[in-house]
Amino acid sequence: MTGRGRRNLRATAARRVPGGAPQTAADLACDGVSVSLGGRRIVDRVSLAVATGRWCTIAGPNGAGKTTLVRAIAGLVAYDGSVRVGGAALDRLRPSARARLVALVPQQPVVPPAITVLDYVLLGRTAHLPPLGVESAVDLDAARGAIEELDLGPFCGRHVGSLSGGERQRAVIARALAQSSPVLVLDEPTTGLDLGYQQDVLDLVSAMCRERGLTVLSTMHDLTLAGAYSDELVLMTEGRVVASGPVAETLTAENLALVTRARFRLLDESGRTVVVPLPLARDHR
Ligand SMILES: Nc1ncnc2c1ncn2[C@@H]1O[C@H](COP(=O)(O)OP(=O)(O)O)[C@@H](O)[C@H]1O
Ligand SMILES: [Mg+2]
Repeated sequence: MTGRGRRNLRATAARRVPGGAPQTAADLACDGVSVSLGGRRIVDRVSLAVATGRWCTIAGPNGAGKTTLVRAIAGLVAYDGSVRVGGAALDRLRPSARARLVALVPQQPVVPPAITVLDYVLLGRTAHLPPLGVESAVDLDAARGAIEELDLGPFCGRHVGSLSGGERQRAVIARALAQSSPVLVLDEPTTGLDLGYQQDVLDLVSAMCRERGLTVLSTMHDLTLAGAYSDELVLMTEGRVVASGPVAETLTAENLALVTRARFRLLDESGRTVVVPLPLARDHR
């Protein structure tokens, strides 16, 4: 981000949310979810609940099973246990019905390079189209709204393959927003974004939680950002939940020691917890 003319996403997040009509909000509940891959149990009896309009972040070390869990929630990998949105068991739904409930921003999205940004974001409307149907004005409006929210207007006609990493990540988020699902799942959504766009994207998601009742489940490495934006925190390691609850109660040195070997100090910044990594003692100046 250069700052040249970049529109502040935060200013418009409250006014306009892609998808046309207000969304039907819904709570997300995972109960005893387990996933085994390659003969190994990667996610081990995970239970969590995210109330309508709340934001829950899953944090934990690399390999903890976070991506596998969110892929299970999005129906991309088979699981035991139950995943429900608004009480409906997702494994009983057709893929399009499931997609109308849960939109996923994957950690490593597969993006066709020779597709324009507008057409790519329109793919988010697939679950809303009748069989063999073409996009309606509502679909175009939702896609254009999402493109505007993510400040991608100038890139509308560009091929996704020609975008920078950060621009591409915003296109992936725009596609998920265009899907207009009441549950948004974001796997490391700020990866590849500079600090300004990280804040813009998180502020936009936060506004959608508060004002439209969007239910959000994210994974995030940055514990300070996770603490600043989320209502609830779930700490995972080796496929299991080791601590969970409201951020203020969960983001503690004792709990973090369960999921990281990093040296850090927790600071209180006007009621928000800041996680400060500490260098080796010899580097203190
Ligand atoms: N298809 C797969 N087959 C076998 N193991 C897998 C597969 N996908 C992921 N894993 C393993 O599952 C573990 C958890 O991975 P992942 O869910 O990506 O963790 P995280 O997102 O927390 O870093 C890792 O050890 C990874 O190698
Ligand atoms: Mg991951």
